[in-house]
Amino acid sequence: MREEKAEPARIVVLISGSGSNMQAIAEACQKQNMDAEIVAVISNRPGVPGLERAQQFDIPNEVLDHTSFATREEFDINLIRAIDEHSPDLVVLAGFMRILTSEFVRRYKGRLLNIHPSLLPKYKGLHTHKRALEAGDKEHGVTVHFVSEDLDGGPNIIQAVVPVLDDDSETTLQSRVQIQEHIIYPIAVKWFTEGRLTMLKGDAYFDNQALPESGLQLNH
Ligand code: GAR
Repeated sequence: MREEKAEPARIVVLISGSGSNMQAIAEACQKQNMDAEIVAVISNRPGVPGLERAQQFDIPNEVLDHTSFATREEFDINLIRAIDEHSPDLVVLAGFMRILTSEFVRRYKGRLLNIHPSLLPKYKGLHTHKRALEAGDKEHGVTVHFVSEDLDGGPNIIQAVVPVLDDDSETTLQSRVQIQEHIIYPIAVKWFTEGRLTMLKGDAYFDNQALPESGLQLNH
């Protein structure tokens, strides 16, 4: 949990691509919907659109190219160094497509959030929209969760449920899910920065109440 502080909460956002979730959080900070500031955006890939978006918001941004490091461990040690330069209260994974080492996850335990495009624990990993369509699911969605050492694991905070339509393609489903991503991620970040969200012994708490396995659910 974040302690009450006079200064705005310091957020470091990690991206690998488009950065639209980072932008949604930056807009919420800009509109003063929350007392927080993105102090840095770090991408593991050079030249991605998310870096340009960060520039448009005057957010300091940098690249730490994972291909420059021999091992995952070496990359993560350098990533920790780069993040800690900014003394963050919260680290936000926003389309950061890297498997993280346990050392990394342990370092930011309880202040590391991720967004994943499925109703976790369903469909961890890649191609979530395709898998939901192939399974004939009537509902799909997106989850914001605290990060644990398991891939796309850790207690859920909030989910948005999106109906699957008969004529949905991967693209149409993905774009409807992404609209919800841009709503729920700023909400979760705001709750965290207000000190209302905590992770304790592997469970997520909101206003000191344990959250259900799904997290809080928004239905659309
Ligand atoms: C988002 O759809 C997010 O849910 C997904 O990557 C996309 C990034 O978009 N994340 C994962 O799949 C994590 N396992 P963005 O770069 O425009 O925010």
